[in-house]
Amino acid sequence: MRIDIITVLPELLKSPFEASILKRAIEAGLVEVHFHNLRDYTSDNYKSIDDTQFGGGAGMVMMVEPIDKCITALKAKRNYDEVIYMTPDGETLNQSIANQLSLKGNIIILCGHYKGVDQRVRDHFITREISIGDYVLSGGELGAAVLCDAIIRLIPGVLGNETSALTDSFQDNLLAPPIYTKPREYKGWKVPELLFSGNLPEIEKWREEQAYLRTKERRPDLLDD
Ligand code: ADE
Repeated sequence: MRIDIITVLPELLKSPFEASILKRAIEAGLVEVHFHNLRDYTSDNYKSIDDTQFGGGAGMVMMVEPIDKCITALKAKRNYDEVIYMTPDGETLNQSIANQLSLKGNIIILCGHYKGVDQRVRDHFITREISIGDYVLSGGELGAAVLCDAIIRLIPGVLGNETSALTDSFQDNLLAPPIYTKPREYKGWKVPELLFSGNLPEIEKWREEQAYLRTKERRPDLLDD
């Protein structure tokens, strides 16, 4: 998989890809992540990427031309399955969207800033608009990092234990059950006895019940789906 991220703040985006699972995925060649500074696609001396709104109104709007140049240059080199725009008014990211995107070959992610991009960018280039939640960030970069993390960890081979992504919260629309590790008892706080029984079917049943109860208590909306 290849991810091309278009941003005005590449330095803000790089560090999440330089540690832990994302770093290993890149080093193992399971994913390529490239950053493109939108200012490299400007045509004036000030490297302007935004301007005031037609019709008046507060806030700057990202101009169509630099974005067109950048996306067109990328598309001249290879085909892309999706051109994603990070925006608070997009569809809210969830595990199902992450699963779908992890199966794609090449994707472009455009990070918005200020009031957002000229609508013509959305009309002519964007295939999918994604929000990471109902709040407004200063820009799309942190959202893009969240999206990339959610996608990349699902690419086969990225997680050491192939099954571990399958038991994450939200796969099957359930939250994950409680988990424990050593010591068996700490300050009198005990681990449920069943987990030491060696009875794998009973343990699996307990985990499923716990996942269901936790989901019912915290996220009943997931059970409605
Ligand atoms: N840009 C600004 N706010 C955002 C959000 N909630 N999700 C994705 N991109 C954004």
